[in-house]
Amino acid sequence: MNEYQILYLSQSDVAAVNLDMATVIRLLESAFGEKGAGKVEMPPKPGIHTMPDAFIHAMPAYIPSLHSAGIKWVSGYPDNQKRGLPYITGLLILNDDETGIPYAVMDCSWITAYRTGAASALAAKYLARPNSKVAGILACGVQGRTNLEALKVLFPLERVYAYDIHPDRQKLYAEEMSAKLSVEVIGVEEPRQAVENSDLVVTSGPILKHPTPIIQENWLQPGAFGSAVDFDSYWTGAAIAQMDRISTDDHAQFQYYKSIGYFQTTPDPYADLGEIVAGKKPGRQGSQERTLAMNLGLAMDDMAVAPEIYRRAKAMGIGTWLPL
Ligand SMILES: NC(=O)c1ccc[n+]([C@@H]2O[C@H](COP(=O)([O-])OP(=O)(O)OC[C@H]3O[C@@H](n4cnc5c(N)ncnc54)[C@H](O)[C@@H]3O)[C@@H](O)[C@H]2O)c1
Repeated sequence: MNEYQILYLSQSDVAAVNLDMATVIRLLESAFGEKGAGKVEMPPKPGIHTMPDAFIHAMPAYIPSLHSAGIKWVSGYPDNQKRGLPYITGLLILNDDETGIPYAVMDCSWITAYRTGAASALAAKYLARPNSKVAGILACGVQGRTNLEALKVLFPLERVYAYDIHPDRQKLYAEEMSAKLSVEVIGVEEPRQAVENSDLVVTSGPILKHPTPIIQENWLQPGAFGSAVDFDSYWTGAAIAQMDRISTDDHAQFQYYKSIGYFQTTPDPYADLGEIVAGKKPGRQGSQERTLAMNLGLAMDDMAVAPEIYRRAKAMGIGTWLPL
């Protein structure tokens, strides 16, 4: 027997750590700064695909400044909804960066939800107008929640227009999020109403390889910012062509997805978020630009947050120690 122990953190353990969104955004900003400086190791994510539009991805990353090394093994299954199961599930392993020995295994759904919201807000910090007060959320699921929560940390939000194809989910979302964030949340009947009146628009529906996008040209107002958490599934080519600035979170990953059939009508992003945070590329220039963040989700986002979850869980006595 060896003496190594790993800390296992279940879904409820990770949630019980209750890491605040402001800290998640701060951790991501630090990691993107490192990425912009060329200091992060993050190979493109390989995946397996057991069903159309479903994936199970392996996402390794190493962020030297955070001493964070590890991998996320995450699945996304759009049809799970019909089974009453979550869209996104998976596990994350952390390794000691000096010995390589694994020291934690945790459920990855909380981290995936929060880091993705934080990445949208971080992009918005550089690409949206700072006085943005109105948000439009299209798809009121997990991402619809965490993206709004993250935007609320950085922007003086007063009103939210929310749309979901399932009216019951939309209603629940409006009740829940208005109480949680103390903002007015108005459910709308048409996607257009959530786009044309908003300074910040997040689309977070299913990612589809052959989507039937809904957002048309001129719906997003000049000066507004969009975050396409669901790739280009919600935005028509004409709406995307109108953007003055499109960013992504990693050029190589964007090109990889393009090579396998996504983003066929999306121009190549002018910058990735690392380049913007590191000051190598500019953010918004002027109040009338339409800007769009296409963050595809990086292993680095997860590895920026996971060690902090581990440290806090350990200090709080949360989780189960298991022999390696
Ligand atoms: N880019 C990233 O880094 C990243 C990370 C995690 C998840 N995602 C993606 O975000 C999306 C949402 O994930 P989730 O965990 O929030 O899923 P979820 O199942 O919790 O929520 C999805 C919501 O979309 C709604 N919906 C479905 N079709 C819609 C449509 N056409 N218009 C409006 N609403 C619609 C559903 O009713 C549901 O409420 C998925 O596509 C997922 O792959 C992206």
